[in-house]
Amino acid sequence: TVLAAVTAKKGTFHFGSTYDTFDADQSWFDGVFSTFYRHVVAENGCKWDATEPSQGVSSLTECVGAQSFANQFGNTFRGHNTFWHSQTPSWLPGSFSASQVVGTIIPQHVQAEIQGMGASVTSWDVVNEVVGDGVSAGMTSLQCVQNKGDWPTVTSDGSGVPLVTDLSFIFAAFKTAFQFAGANTRLAVNDYNTGGAEAKTACVINLIKSIQANTTIPFNRLAVGFQSHLTASTGGFDSKSALASTFSTLSALGVSAMITEMDIEVNANTTPNLRYQAAIWGDYLDACLFASNCFEFINWDPRDDLSWRGSAAAATLFDTNGNPKPAAYEVAARLQNF
Ligand code: G3I
Repeated sequence: TVLAAVTAKKGTFHFGSTYDTFDADQSWFDGVFSTFYRHVVAENGCKWDATEPSQGVSSLTECVGAQSFANQFGNTFRGHNTFWHSQTPSWLPGSFSASQVVGTIIPQHVQAEIQGMGASVTSWDVVNEVVGDGVSAGMTSLQCVQNKGDWPTVTSDGSGVPLVTDLSFIFAAFKTAFQFAGANTRLAVNDYNTGGAEAKTACVINLIKSIQANTTIPFNRLAVGFQSHLTASTGGFDSKSALASTFSTLSALGVSAMITEMDIEVNANTTPNLRYQAAIWGDYLDACLFASNCFEFINWDPRDDLSWRGSAAAATLFDTNGNPKPAAYEVAARLQNF
């Protein structure tokens, strides 16, 4: 069955990286995104601050620019993201009541962005990083999300009472996304420090169940994005078997899994470090390739000099001169026949 899963993926597996229209060295991007990276996500251009700079005014120029770059080379495109506590527009949090945020502001934003970007988007991170880092096993979905504590204050009296008294803001985002997304677009909860047996992974999976129960969106339209910002030197990554177990749990529900933002900090471009980086990258890719429910694998920032983690982290697949690193050859070898 594992090999059958691999064969079944041929032509439907999306391997790519980030792009922003202000990225320089366009010739490098054109070359690598017409041969190696064949899936695109906007690093920043589809975030709320870019797409609704003033309330009720949709501005998709940056997001469409990234999608157009994908289309230029026959590549696919995914959306990141319609809701995140970071990079919100300057007019938020403002002095809106929670009911205004849930009833009007979020649905209006999600509709404008998803409808505006069209049905070809393979998946959307409908909510990004909504689960806290201090969660523990057994927490309810509400407790997992309240643990986050980064929410913009939205009460009408500006009292600073956080938005999260219930999960209605998440359900509203997903209901609207489902209403306006393409029929084949997967709708994801995206988060970091997840993938294995972490309490945060359990929270995300339970949140998916809560979303399905409260929105009646079919499980086969839902997905979990595992950002996978890893640190090799501290063992900050999951094993292939742990990932496979998590993906299998989601598969049993009918939910898709995606690796959405992979990079691996190795701190120094030494041969052993780069070899170790390649091994971990290969394990994550195989965990996805050999899972029947994993179709997207995105590498965050296409080369070291553009990495949000800084060049010294050597965290991406191409070095600061844009040359492929051992990990690039590793994933290319494992992607053969996909
Ligand atoms: O666009 C402005 C520019 O006008 C200004 O001159 C410049 C200097 O202040 O800032 C530019 O905005 C920056 C933006 O990236 C675009 O380059 C922001 O300051 C900077 O904070 C922002 O960083 C992004 C970060 O998200 C924001 O939290 C990174 O590029 C991006 O890689 C990173 O990506 C996130 C994912 O969206 C979610 N998962 C974690 C991941 C890493 O933080």
